[in-house]
Amino acid sequence: MSTSDTEVANLDLLDPTALADPYPVFASLRAHDPVHWNARYKSWFITSFDDVTAALKDPRFTSNRITPYRENVLSRPGTDPLLREAFGVLDDWMVFKDPPDHTRLRRLLSRAFTPRSVSRMRPAIEAIAAELLDRAVEHGDNRIDLISDYAYPLTSSVIAEMLGVPREDRDRFKDWSDQISGLVFGSLGDDERHRRGARGMKELTTYLGELVADHEKSPSDDLISMLISARENDDSLSHDEVIATGVLLLFAGHETTTNLIGNGILALLDHPEELRTVDPSDPARVNGLVDELLRYDGPAKSVVRLVTEDMVWRDKQMRAGERVFLFLSSANRDPSAFENPDTFDASRRPGRQLGFSAGLHYCLGAPLARLETSIAVPTAINRLSGLAPDPDDSVSWAPTLLTRGMTRCPVRYGLTS
Ligand code: HEM
Repeated sequence: MSTSDTEVANLDLLDPTALADPYPVFASLRAHDPVHWNARYKSWFITSFDDVTAALKDPRFTSNRITPYRENVLSRPGTDPLLREAFGVLDDWMVFKDPPDHTRLRRLLSRAFTPRSVSRMRPAIEAIAAELLDRAVEHGDNRIDLISDYAYPLTSSVIAEMLGVPREDRDRFKDWSDQISGLVFGSLGDDERHRRGARGMKELTTYLGELVADHEKSPSDDLISMLISARENDDSLSHDEVIATGVLLLFAGHETTTNLIGNGILALLDHPEELRTVDPSDPARVNGLVDELLRYDGPAKSVVRLVTEDMVWRDKQMRAGERVFLFLSSANRDPSAFENPDTFDASRRPGRQLGFSAGLHYCLGAPLARLETSIAVPTAINRLSGLAPDPDDSVSWAPTLLTRGMTRCPVRYGLTS
């Protein structure tokens, strides 16, 4: 092994320095070993733009990472029966499916998730952002946590409102969502996390089951009603699929967007001139800004696939069942795809970055995430003048290979209006 190979093999993306700034580690991986077997995580790390793009479109990498995980978890002695039910819900998530099952669900859901249903959320998003900032300013001590006081309540209220979840019930979603996250992203052997995840899933599906039953009797114009009525030829979503999809949308719909809003505000505090150059009434420029936020420091660090067959891929011997991390964040900083990739530049031509993935699983909620971010980021920066990271406190980054997001982001601001 050369020195650089040894260095690359020892890089740990969960090391606190790499969590705060993973981009030097990615640069090293891309330069020395772009298709890297990581012994610590017993997984492949794929980091270049071309390889990540190719792998996302290669059916030999399956999205179904839930079946082997479920089998492993359920084969452990003394498995909680609720876990079996919880995995039954995850089985219905399109994000874990390959064609043709994925094709069917995606088609039915795309019909319910129309651009119209997203754009009509604009006034609600603007009102929620303004209300949260008013509340923060009333606090009076010129400090807030951008994540827990702003980005998180904003995105969770928006998806709950879209689904038709009554306001008074929304606080319960944070706990359920955190618990389910422990199941989806948990590791084998973490039995207590799995048990809590299964309980959270049970409570949330019971809650959504009642909501779906109400909507079946009296439909309205929210997303749950659209899921119930989504139909193509003789096909529609079953009752269980509507509930599972509701859980998926609640889950997929706010954590990532929270992180884009948080990362986006931080990026713009470092590059204030970039926000000033964007005319908020020019949709193309706003879209370009959001695209650059996704490229520069997007919230989906990686997506996971499993190898389906023994094969040689980019000169590396891969074995069926091996796990593969496709690092979108690294692809988005690849100098072979982006000029000066470490420079934030809102005037780049949008469309190339992989922050929402690519191929069959391209983020279904991308239009909603774009709309929320394009409202939430400038609104906070304009309302909280003098906004800056709190010099007496520090940001903390979520310790995971999958997401790039802050668990807390304390900031201070100056003049309140
Ligand atoms: C899929 C990122 C917001 C719903 C994905 C994937 C990524 C992603 C990378 C692909 C996963 C894979 O290939 O395995 C993001 C980011 C967001 C965001 C960065 C915010 C900035 C949302 C929102 C919703 C949503 C707001 C819904 C309300 C979905 C769904 C899928 C998905 C349903 C599965 C699509 C499929 O499997 O065909 N998202 N997402 N996402 N996202 Fe998002």
